[in-house]
Amino acid sequence: MKKNILKFVKMKNRRPLVCLTAYSKPIAKILDKHCDLILVGDSLATAMYGMKNTHQISIETMILHGISVKSNLSKALCVIDMPKNTYRNVNEAIKNAKLILSRTKCDAVKMECNGKNFKIIESVVNYGIPVMGHIGFTPQHYKKFKIQGVLKNERLKLIKDAKENERAGVFSIVVECVASDVAKEITKSLKIPTIGIGASIHCDGQILVTDDMLGLSGFYPKFVKRFVKLNNIIEKGVQKYNKAVLNRKFPNNQNKF
Ligand code: KIV
Repeated sequence: MKKNILKFVKMKNRRPLVCLTAYSKPIAKILDKHCDLILVGDSLATAMYGMKNTHQISIETMILHGISVKSNLSKALCVIDMPKNTYRNVNEAIKNAKLILSRTKCDAVKMECNGKNFKIIESVVNYGIPVMGHIGFTPQHYKKFKIQGVLKNERLKLIKDAKENERAGVFSIVVECVASDVAKEITKSLKIPTIGIGASIHCDGQILVTDDMLGLSGFYPKFVKRFVKLNNIIEKGVQKYNKAVLNRKFPNNQNKF
């Protein structure tokens, strides 16, 4: 395992791991100072491109945003989501994971678990490409939001999926929108860190979509806390600009050549 990934894994049981998403250079630069891991998530589709879900985002778009993010990180691990339909079989998964890694120089790719694709995940890991897993509510496989792990059979399935991911060799696993007690049990039963989103304080780390926690996306389900309401701050700035232009106060003498 590469040194920086090993360092991330070893943080389990030491302190919580801080993770966020980024899609662009200015955000990546700020996040790098404060995060252990930055994910170029396929939430890019909804957060940046206004698509109705993550299903149509292309690998080329993920790569372009991946280059923008990774080239502006010096400390945090950079993980890039493999979009839907780019890892349906072993050959396709290895070809596309290699492409993402070679073009972006990221540290790892993330693959959503569909309860069956463990061999595919394992083959990418065995090829030498670090993989982050993703279980629970996996947006590539669902159309409608649903909390996972409420019914007994769902809980057992989630625990099994988590263990299978670990066996397949993922270095960490995102646990999305899962009942708290199941997230706790999964976290206790794995040696690798669990990174929760809507999956309670019991995970080894937390991740949110940055646009959500900054108050930019307009998407604020229960598990999202808005740590700042950037939409209001931006609006105030834009209102000031609008007024200054209309009143011929901008540009002034200091802004001219
Ligand atoms: O695409 C994404 O941003 C994600 C996070 C929500 C974990 O997968």
